[in-house]
Amino acid sequence: MNSKLVCVSDFEKEAHKLLPQNALDYYRSGATQEITLQENKEAINRWYIRPRFLRDVSNRNLKTSILGHKVNVPFGIAPTAMQKMAAPEGENASAKAAARIGTAFTLSTIATSSIEEIVANSPNTLRFFQLYIYKDRNVTSNLVKRAEAAGYTALVLTVDAPEFGIRRADVRNKFTLPPHLRMANFQTDDDKSNLVNKSAGGSGINEYVKSLFDPSLTWNDVKWLKRITNLPIVLKGILTGEDAILGQNAGASAIWVSNHGARQVDGVPPSIEALPEVVKALNGQCEVYVDGGFSQGTDIFKALALGAKMVFLGRPLLWGLACGGEEGAYKVLEILQKELESAMALSGCATIDDISQDMVIRKEHYSRL
Ligand SMILES: Cc1cc2nc3c(=O)[nH]c(=O)nc-3n(C[C@H](O)[C@H](O)[C@H](O)COP(=O)(O)O)c2cc1C
Repeated sequence: MNSKLVCVSDFEKEAHKLLPQNALDYYRSGATQEITLQENKEAINRWYIRPRFLRDVSNRNLKTSILGHKVNVPFGIAPTAMQKMAAPEGENASAKAAARIGTAFTLSTIATSSIEEIVANSPNTLRFFQLYIYKDRNVTSNLVKRAEAAGYTALVLTVDAPEFGIRRADVRNKFTLPPHLRMANFQTDDDKSNLVNKSAGGSGINEYVKSLFDPSLTWNDVKWLKRITNLPIVLKGILTGEDAILGQNAGASAIWVSNHGARQVDGVPPSIEALPEVVKALNGQCEVYVDGGFSQGTDIFKALALGAKMVFLGRPLLWGLACGGEEGAYKVLEILQKELESAMALSGCATIDDISQDMVIRKEHYSRL
């Protein structure tokens, strides 16, 4: 791996050189005009850090907990589909990197490594399983049973995907999963999982999702899921205080603020702007996580100050995988750990609890003075 890669954006640039067009576009793209994709990052820059000094930062501690599990850093790995297009080991490499740092890894339903394969290759990783609900409820309840049996500790139900957003590059490329790869959580041809290896003229993944995911879901389906599992349920994709409260009332243990990496409907708020509304609505009753555009230690610091318990990363790990498999994914996590530690020390925070809301402020505040 190139030793000159010292930050996530270096990994991103390098990955752009290394990945085949079909995979790069699938990983990189946002929906339609990609306004929210750009905003996810720009909005983070509209928050400034208000550092405090002379507060003894000689002993730094980045440890926190998520759903009662101890983690070494307040950030983890978001579910991203089909990671074997980035590196041969795919999701297994991400899971191993998560274990090395000591944080949570989330496996996508539509991964190229199976629920059981991850456990066999990386038994010590704190594992969450991300769930999509299929029209055939047996498909979903079987996934739930397998995740429970394999020792996953939470189900992350993605609520923002009745179908997939229009990602123009995938339509142009007629995106398909390369023939040597498959959706590993599905074994047989009769569950139609190989639809993703074909295109009927547009994006193969969108065609797969349209034919199999259930767009008729309502809050009652969250209650159904709650009835069939004892695992805690995290709702991923919430962008409003109203939905956060509905989620909490439906029995969610945590709310994950996300716009799906700006891949669903373009024009929704950047995640960091939606975060304070959700934190306020839940008023400490439920853990709140966030993802979307976070790629530096200072970004993570800002989200923690705004009330997130955990920040999740999607594309940064894909860039790490593309540049160096497990080692690349680990390096990305390690860089973020060092950057967050530096941001904390230089802002007067020795522990995660020291990162308080008054340590961030909107950029506009200074132009008004
Ligand atoms: C290539 C790619 C695939 C994704 N696949 C899934 C998925 O299978 N399930 C899901 O809930 N979210 C999926 N997401 C959304 C991520 O979990 C996460 O919300 C998003 O990537 C965070 O933004 P970031 O990439 O800027 O960190 C995917 C995102 C990307 C970029």
